[in-house]
Amino acid sequence: MKILITGGAGFIGSHLAEKLLQKKNQVFVFDDLSTGSRGNIRPFIKNKRFFFKKGSILNIKELAPFVKKADQIYHLAAAVGVKHIIENPLKTLLTNIEGTKNVLELAAKSKTPILITSSSEVYGKNSSLPFKETADRTYGSVYSERWGYALSKSVDECLALAYWKKQRLPAVVVRLFNTVGPRQTGRYGMVIPTFIAQAKENKPITVYGTGTQMRCFSHVEDIIKAMIKLMNASKARGEIINLGSTESISMMDLARKIKKMTQSTSRIVKIPYKKAYSSTFEDMQKRIPDLKKAHALIGYKPTYALDNIIRSMM
Ligand SMILES: NC(=O)c1ccc[n+]([C@@H]2O[C@H](COP(=O)([O-])OP(=O)(O)OC[C@H]3O[C@@H](n4cnc5c(N)ncnc54)[C@H](O)[C@@H]3O)[C@@H](O)[C@H]2O)c1
Repeated sequence: MKILITGGAGFIGSHLAEKLLQKKNQVFVFDDLSTGSRGNIRPFIKNKRFFFKKGSILNIKELAPFVKKADQIYHLAAAVGVKHIIENPLKTLLTNIEGTKNVLELAAKSKTPILITSSSEVYGKNSSLPFKETADRTYGSVYSERWGYALSKSVDECLALAYWKKQRLPAVVVRLFNTVGPRQTGRYGMVIPTFIAQAKENKPITVYGTGTQMRCFSHVEDIIKAMIKLMNASKARGEIINLGSTESISMMDLARKIKKMTQSTSRIVKIPYKKAYSSTFEDMQKRIPDLKKAHALIGYKPTYALDNIIRSMM
């Protein structure tokens, strides 16, 4: 098959590209390299079934020929990373809303199956755990840029469902919880690569806020395998599905674990959110996915424990 991956030079997209190439597909990556890189696609850039185009999903003219020739589309291109989105609120909204609308509109013309990557951020401050796909979304003030990202991903989901309902575009939405693994950069605010880099250099490991906030991490390998299965599961069309892990850890314990595993002499220091991001920043205390739907549809079960995930990134 000819498969298009928007955002395919990013962290998750490059792993997905590699896997789809292993499965003998032709893979077309369309990426503006804003947070992705040529380094991510270097391992397979010489593969004859791989094609790369630098371009933005905001440019319909450039994007259209790639959508037209695709048999399937994985739409991953987005403004991501807490630090990046707080610093770039307008770019976040335009890329995630207008960009996604462009991809869906073009895909709808040929009814090309499409998978959209949304985020656990969509749940916002909802505190009834674990998060079920049908749960309410609870957002804070408009002044806090973080909610702009959550909102933009919610709009993407609504758009995907609307195109499915009104134009029979075979669309599936995955809500990714913290996904990590090799090639992920800490540059845009991702916690594990940041902690590992700090620990390896014996520099202070910076925990934001109180450090009591809990997160669940899943390995990119588990996630991309599930994405491929969901893309090919007809029952998943028109559905939103959580993908992640339920093994949770506080950020302070994560810092301690990484310090120990890297045999680092780093100090662990707490940085107030106000200093790390902005005075309007709000965090969620806990995020745990309900994975029943993914399990029922494709037998999804994460296979990597946290220690193995960290080891794969050291
Ligand atoms: N990694 C996670 O924990 C996580 C969690 C929830 C959701 N997601 C979603 O998964 C997707 C991939 O995220 P990732 O972690 O690989 O991040 P990433 O930053 O590595 O990947 C995003 C890619 O999109 C590209 N991009 C950005 N704007 C673009 C534009 N206008 N046109 C073309 N390409 C553009 C970037 O250059 C980058 O390669 C995103 O949609 C993100 O919202 C990721």
